[in-house]
Amino acid sequence: MAKNTQSWNVSVEMVTELNRNDISEISDAAESAIAAGGGFGWLTPPPRSVLENYWKGVLLIPDRQLFVGKLDQVIVGSCQIVTPQKNNEAQAFACQLTTFFLMPQARGYGIAQRLVAEAEDYARSAGFRVLNLDVRETQDRAIHAFEALGYEHFGTNKYYAFVDGNYVAGRYFTKKLYDEKNT
Ligand SMILES: CC(C)(COP(=O)(O)OP(=O)(O)OC[C@H]1O[C@@H](n2cnc3c(N)ncnc32)[C@H](O)[C@@H]1OP(=O)(O)O)[C@@H](O)C(=O)NCCC(=O)NCCS
Repeated sequence: MAKNTQSWNVSVEMVTELNRNDISEISDAAESAIAAGGGFGWLTPPPRSVLENYWKGVLLIPDRQLFVGKLDQVIVGSCQIVTPQKNNEAQAFACQLTTFFLMPQARGYGIAQRLVAEAEDYARSAGFRVLNLDVRETQDRAIHAFEALGYEHFGTNKYYAFVDGNYVAGRYFTKKLYDEKNT
């Protein structure tokens, strides 16, 4: 259920720099998302230095764009757009939405929709036609959110992740960023 967002200042933005405080906030957010079971691949929070270096690294990689969501000016989650390698002309029209999470306390404020919309706007402005993403099928909120935002489920990999000794299936979604009549 959506929370009363009127008294909270919600914002999203693309970032190309993170200061020490930002790194600390985004690492806090990631740590709590990972601990709650939804942490872009990590099953348990890594040592803090690993997490902080991860974010510093993201900013150095040219084919990654980082978006952050804030609640009352504090970073509470993020997502990334990964663009294809330059040799991949055949798939140069599509990019990937990845590493999408909000800390549990920041869920239900509408930040998720705004973060994805910001990432989609960037992808459109960079000339991409299609956005792809994949998610563990146990991530109910994420799947609801993607379906509500018009993402089409086109396939499932039953060996997508391995958690606590069991395979977890993953769902693959896609969305056209433009209305294209002839494709
Ligand atoms: C995915 C995520 C960023 C969404 O943020 P959020 O603030 O929870 O998003 P919302 O509050 O809009 O909820 C998303 C949807 O789940 C629904 N929902 C809420 N609680 C739910 C629950 N317990 N079970 C299933 N769906 C639920 C909401 O109604 C909403 O659906 P709607 O858009 O059809 O109304 C956040 O839940 C998260 O970080 N999850 C863990 C990480 C993850 O799964 N990332 C995706 C990997 S790609």
